[in-house]
Parts: sequence; structure tokens; C-alpha cells
Amino acid sequence: MSTASTGGSTNGTGDVRSRIFAVRDVADLVASTEHEGEGLKKSVGAGQLTAFGVGAIIGTGIFVVIGEGALTAGPAVVISFVLAAVACVFSALSYAELASSIPVSGSAYTYSYATLGELVAWIIGWDLILEYGVSVAAVAVGWGGNVNEFLQSAFGWQLPDAISMSPSDGGVFNLPAVFIVAVITFLLVRGTRESARANLIMVGIKLLILVFFIVIAFLNFNPSHFDDFSPKGVDGITTAASVIFFAFIGFDAVSTGSEEANNPKRDLPLAIIGSLVICTIFYVLVAAGAIGIASPQTLGGSDAPLAAALRDGAGISWAAGILAFGALVAITSVVLVIMYGQTRIFFAMCRDGLLPRGLATVHPRYGTPARLTIGMGVLIAILAALVPLGEIVKLVNIGTLFAFILVNIGVIVLRRTRPDMPRPYRVPLSPVFPGLGILFALYLMKDLPFDTWVRFVVWLVVGLAIYVFYGYSHSRLRTEPSARG
Ligand code: ALA
Repeated sequence: MSTASTGGSTNGTGDVRSRIFAVRDVADLVASTEHEGEGLKKSVGAGQLTAFGVGAIIGTGIFVVIGEGALTAGPAVVISFVLAAVACVFSALSYAELASSIPVSGSAYTYSYATLGELVAWIIGWDLILEYGVSVAAVAVGWGGNVNEFLQSAFGWQLPDAISMSPSDGGVFNLPAVFIVAVITFLLVRGTRESARANLIMVGIKLLILVFFIVIAFLNFNPSHFDDFSPKGVDGITTAASVIFFAFIGFDAVSTGSEEANNPKRDLPLAIIGSLVICTIFYVLVAAGAIGIASPQTLGGSDAPLAAALRDGAGISWAAGILAFGALVAITSVVLVIMYGQTRIFFAMCRDGLLPRGLATVHPRYGTPARLTIGMGVLIAILAALVPLGEIVKLVNIGTLFAFILVNIGVIVLRRTRPDMPRPYRVPLSPVFPGLGILFALYLMKDLPFDTWVRFVVWLVVGLAIYVFYGYSHSRLRTEPSARG
């Protein structure tokens, strides 16, 4: 069929409206993954997927951002962790339903395409670049900081500021951050199986390190640290939760790999919910332990709060070096999984024609989107070399919460528009649970600063311009109308 039959000039605003809200056919979405050279290799099981989730979740949030949370909420930061986890649970269930019904690369982007239409899908895909791509750069910068922390405690020496900090932090560029992005890019190009194996080892190490922290903290625990439990009241707890939320980002990354799962219908819900539950248990224990040995000021005043808690709070300096090493490994796996997620979402957007389709080719030997991965790696490395951590956590949070809202709406809409679609996993009590997912996301978003909202809106407007001038006319829905639902 020719492009002109669906694309080209419009016949009025109603026509344009029906096009930008056109949905992808679910069967076609799944079929498009089977086109020769466009399908990703199926090589990942439930255990590995859960490890992918844990790999993406436990990182900068618990090792670094916990400090800001403790300063904001006081000892009640433990409650902030629970609040953020509860906020995530409802959305995790919705992710599980959509990921198991539509096991196609691209996560929330793909689900919105099948449910809410192309324009919303584009917005969410663009938004997810904020959650994934931009956060990888920030997390890599955090990794660089931890290299110095580790070198300092192990060898009493660290890299000079000029090659370990961004310009706004007083350096020239961040070499360690570039290094970690380059290594992870190489791993991802080589293949998912290899990356999954490396991830499994890193996840094991980071859980061990957290157990180590929890044991030492509870052996030295001082209950009086909890006396002034909630100095800033409920406001402090919620504001801290909206920042701490960063620590939970990543369970959704499991769904970006759904196309490569051996048995997506069973494995995806297990892995998404399993990884969230495991991390929540660790976080609550770590937060309680950290407060039990150190004041919120000690935690908030350090770039490596858990190491500081051991050294300055419990007075056990040798343990701080071990913890810095653990943070390094933990953050490495976050970079690996989140960057993996970013390449898969971008891959799906290219394959749908909203971004150049030439990028969505799969390497003949490795079975991975090699060209795309290298391109993303270069862009992320440039960002990581030059951008400081700063406010980026909040920007990433707002983008992620927005994605959660759309995923929950997607579940509700798809239940109405496609009631007969096979759903290997169903969110209980829909629309109540997805509705709660939306409300919790809004609740956390409202506590993010005005500046964060402004940056977020600017990002979305830029994305909209790209859709108007490129995506709309190159979309597979217009060049291959059979893709329409
Ligand atoms: N949840 C991830 C982290 O804390 C993004 O690093």
C-alpha cells in the first residue's frame, strides 16, 4: 500500500486526530519482532530477569541519595522508603500485566503505542530517555565519585579533580564516568547473555555488601537515634519519599527486556514484583541500620553516606573501604541494566519509524542492536563527562513517575478496548489498583520542586517538535498501514 493512503496531507483536524491517536496492533507488534534481522535473541530466564531488576534498582539511591532523604525526613526516612515502595507496587503490577501481554521490546513506550496511540507513545518514549539515558549519565558520574572514595580508603590516593569531575564541579571532564560507560557499551554490544552473566555476579556482590552493612549496623545499633523520629512531620516524609523514589527506579527495566525473555508470560511478572520486594526489604533494613549508627547530618553531609555511617558513626573505618567498593560494583550494574533498557526502548522507537529506522538493525553475530548501542554509548559518555549529578535525580524521578501514570492508564484503557486480549497476568481489582498507582505517582510528583517541573515541560516540548517534524511522517503506521490496530 502506498504511503499516500494514510500519510501525506490531511483532510481536516479530525483526520489528524485519528492519526496521532492511532494504535499499533498488538499482534503486529509481536510479529514485527520476528522479522528477519529485527528480532532480538531469546536468551534470558526468570532468575536472570529478577537479577536484572535488582541490578537496576540497588545503586545510587541507597548508596548516595539516602543521605538527602535522611536530612529531609530525619529517622523517619525509613517510612519514606516504605511510602516510595508502596507507590511503586501498584505501578509494578500494571507493568507486569502489560509486559506479559505485550512481550515486545520497549516497555512503557510499546504499551502506550498499543493502547493510547502514537502521540502518547512518542511522548512516553521521549520521556523514558529522561529516565534511562539521562540517568545513566548521572549514575556514571556517581560511579566516578565512588572510584575516588575507594582509591582514597584503599590506597590513600585519588585521581586529580581535573580528570575526575565535571566543569561545574571544578574539573575538566570526568574520565572514570566515561570509562564505565565505555566498558558497559562494549558488554552490551557483545550480547545479552554475556551482559546478564556479568550482571548476576555484580548483583551477588552488592547484596553481600548490603548484608555486611546491615549486620555491622545492627551490632552497633543505638535506639536513641530514633528519639526525634520525624522532625519535619508528614511533609518531610513525603518530600524525602519523592527523592528516595530514585532508589526504586529500575524494576520497570525488566520489562524493557521482555522480548529477550524465554517465557515472558510467567517470568516477567515474577521478575518485576520479585525484584521490587527484594529491594524494599533491603532498603528498609539498610535505612534503619544507617540511622541506628549515624545521625541524619552525618548521612546527609557525605557523598558516600553508608561508608560515612560506618566510619564516622560506628567508628569502623576499615569497613568504609569495603562499602565504597560495594557501591562501585552496585552502581556498575545499575549502569549496565539501565543502559540496556535505554537501547531497547530506542530500538523499538526506531523500528516503529518514529526515529531513523536504519539504526534498528541487529548485529548478525551478536544478535544485539550494536550500532544503536554504540551511538547511545557515545552520547551518554559525552553527557557523563561534562554533567554534574545535582538536580538530575529529581528530573529523572519526575519523568519516571509520569511514565508510571501512563502505564496505569494503559492497563485501564486496554481492559476496555481489548477485553478479550490474552492476559497471562492480570492486575487484581482493576481499575482500583491502577488508579491507586496513578494517585501515588501524582502524590510524589507534587512534592518535586517547581524548577524540576519546568525542565520536564521543556523536555516534553522539544520531544513534541521532533515528532511533528520527523516522527509523524516517518512512522511505520503511515509507511506500512498494515501495522495499525
Ligand atoms: N534505582 C537506581 C539507583 O538507585 C536508579 O541507582
